[in-house]
Amino acid sequence: MDADEVLTTTRAVRRRLDPSRPVPLELIRDCIDVALQAPAGSNLPRTRFVVVRDPVLRKGLADLYTEVYEGTYRESEGYIGKVATDDASGARTQERSARSADALASALHEVDTIVITCLEGARLDGASAMANASLLGGVLPATWSFMLAARARGLGTCWTTMHMARERDAAELLGIPFDRVQQVCLTPVAFTTGEKFGRARRPAVDDVLHLDGWDASLPSVPDVRGLAAR
Ligand SMILES: Cc1cc2nc3c(=O)[nH]c(=O)nc-3n(C[C@H](O)[C@H](O)[C@H](O)COP(=O)(O)O)c2cc1C
Repeated sequence: MDADEVLTTTRAVRRRLDPSRPVPLELIRDCIDVALQAPAGSNLPRTRFVVVRDPVLRKGLADLYTEVYEGTYRESEGYIGKVATDDASGARTQERSARSADALASALHEVDTIVITCLEGARLDGASAMANASLLGGVLPATWSFMLAARARGLGTCWTTMHMARERDAAELLGIPFDRVQQVCLTPVAFTTGEKFGRARRPAVDDVLHLDGWDASLPSVPDVRGLAAR
């Protein structure tokens, strides 16, 4: 696969995670090695990878995830299945994504490996925009690089943040020092059933490209400022 193929076919894999094929730890290590090449503010990589293979711990994490998913998220306005789109094909895509997200919530405990990426050395609760951009912005590229490296090795991943509503419980389960390490993303990692994945439906370039300044005539997405302030 060339770079563009990896970049355009790294999907949120949920229903095609194969629970029957163990993932060698060496492969995970290779993905982390690639991910560590990502940029980081002040050239100080603060991303940490908590790789969870123990079935009891995986089940504990999956239970937290599912409790949030079923207990809060599924009924919320933000539920992937409730996100409005203006055309029938978009609505079908959202519906498919919702079924896929539902399936992960019921099957996460079966997945061979769960990886949580973390920011070490800070918590961003109440942090300034600059701190968020610099510190969180240092973890996100490494997290995505990990997923791209996984895709290139036949592994599927799915970026999730659902368990963050129970972050403290996850920290206790895994011995993560909550006061100085913030979890950022939880992803299942497993071989995929089949290797063929395609491009996804996304906005057109012309709808998101603001040339020489903000172009207010372009389509906008719903505001979530109230939600973000919570
Ligand atoms: C910040 C972030 C948080 C996400 N949280 C979840 C989540 O908690 N659960 C889930 O099933 N998918 C989650 N996703 C996956 C998105 O739903 C997925 O990336 C999107 O539907 C596009 O999928 P596609 O690339 O396969 O088209 C998250 C993605 C991102 C980037």
